Amino acid sequence: MDLATDKNIREAFKRAGHAHVFRYWDELNPQSKFRLLSEAQAIDLDEINKLVAEHVLTDSLSGLSGDKLDGLEPAPYIQHPSKGGDVLRWEKAAKTGELAIRAGKVAAFCVAGGQGTRLGFNGPKGTFPVTPLTKKSLFQVFAEKIKRSSERYETVIHWFVLTSEINHAATAEHFELNNYFGLPRESVHLIVQGLISAVDQKGKIILTAKDSIARTPDGHGGSLRALARSSAIEKMKTLGVECISYFQVDNPLIRIIDPAFIGFHLEEDSELSSKMIPKAYPLEKVGHFCTQGGKTVVVEYSDMSESMQKATNSAGDLHYISGSVAIHLFDRDFIARVGGGEGQAKLPFHRANKRIPFLDAAGNLQNPDEPNGVKFEMFVFDALPLARNAIIIESLRADDFSPVKNSTGVDSPKSCAEDLLRSYARWLIAAGVNIEVDSSGLPVINFEISYSFAADQEDFFKQWNALSNKPDIVDGLVIESGI
Ligand code: UD1
Repeated sequence: MDLATDKNIREAFKRAGHAHVFRYWDELNPQSKFRLLSEAQAIDLDEINKLVAEHVLTDSLSGLSGDKLDGLEPAPYIQHPSKGGDVLRWEKAAKTGELAIRAGKVAAFCVAGGQGTRLGFNGPKGTFPVTPLTKKSLFQVFAEKIKRSSERYETVIHWFVLTSEINHAATAEHFELNNYFGLPRESVHLIVQGLISAVDQKGKIILTAKDSIARTPDGHGGSLRALARSSAIEKMKTLGVECISYFQVDNPLIRIIDPAFIGFHLEEDSELSSKMIPKAYPLEKVGHFCTQGGKTVVVEYSDMSESMQKATNSAGDLHYISGSVAIHLFDRDFIARVGGGEGQAKLPFHRANKRIPFLDAAGNLQNPDEPNGVKFEMFVFDALPLARNAIIIESLRADDFSPVKNSTGVDSPKSCAEDLLRSYARWLIAAGVNIEVDSSGLPVINFEISYSFAADQEDFFKQWNALSNKPDIVDGLVIESGI
């Protein structure tokens, strides 16, 4: 960095009211000066000051509240065939989707840039061991599903993975060390999302060291601008990818490549389609699909009163039943528009009050017990009201959703491993194999079906029936491809 650039950056911070970021400048050695300047250069000061004015100095709330919930209605959705949906319509959609997959029009996109603090795991969440027996990582599970779907549909499904500066190097290393889990190296694309600086309650940028600024990933909504700002969209165009299957790193049960979902999305000419799962219980901590003023929106559980979350209709069913499980299909050009922030098509930022380590007046690092700062993030579901023909289809929890979020209890490694086991047992039972399970469907033995053998139940049925030597299902068995 030359002297003129260095001076320009420091002056820009002064003009923007953040001169304190360079408070220790004269004490810093050249390396530290370079580090601080590099971090500072990446900050969009206009954006930060606008967010501070809107969300910190005016003390506005992060999400929807009060009258902002006016006119809210449950969003309509396409019912699953097992719940009364039109079987023929689903079959037709599955055919449409399969053609698009075979033609190479579908890519997978996993958002894995978050900090994963709740799980208490040291490392990128995607490297967390998750399968019940062989403890494959979340990334390996996804890779096997993508590889198997590519084989099944005789194509190459490209996989885009969102990381952030915080976990990019460790994520890339995990893929390298594992030889990209057998996927073609050139079909895996790691995209680094942006960081945004955190501010204190007066709107001033926080320092975490004399040469470092507090910065956090800009939320999963930042995935769209990361795709648009990197060469990813161009790459997708060159590859002929039109439809992007979006999922979160915490959910190994996801059907990444789901022909019926893709078919509905294409047949309805939707720019953004989503899967809903009926809430497991009224206060489940998920977003709710709703409509407001003719637009589809997701309202987080934290933005809805308990009474709204528990409200029932005349039949006694939950009024707001549609849980958002963060599974979407995006049209590529829609991402380019929203991620590029064209016209009015821009995701809003939300504010979250957080505990953020900071340097005190004496230059010592403090770890506060109470929230002392504000972090800004974008949510991907805020793209829904911007999309043409947003549609929602129903999915079954057992087929699509069992996240690892907490270290114990609900949505933990234990509950997730058990759900994976239940799904293997269901696949076997559907294929006519006897296997002993308890009243919750959990097998009494521990075993595994590798996703390199079958990516979902339908695939398993075919693969299993094609086996000439079917193994006995015993404790410790792993059903692998090439068995
Ligand atoms: C999220 C959704 C909730 C949904 C639930 C389903 C929000 C606010 N809520 O909750 O509506 O019902 O999942 O499981 O999103 N990520 C990034 N970059 C970031 C932040 C997050 O890539 O800057 C990724 C994470 O790595 C993770 C995903 O986004 O894969 C979800 O993030 P997380 O903060 O864990 O969301 P939840 O609170 O669990």
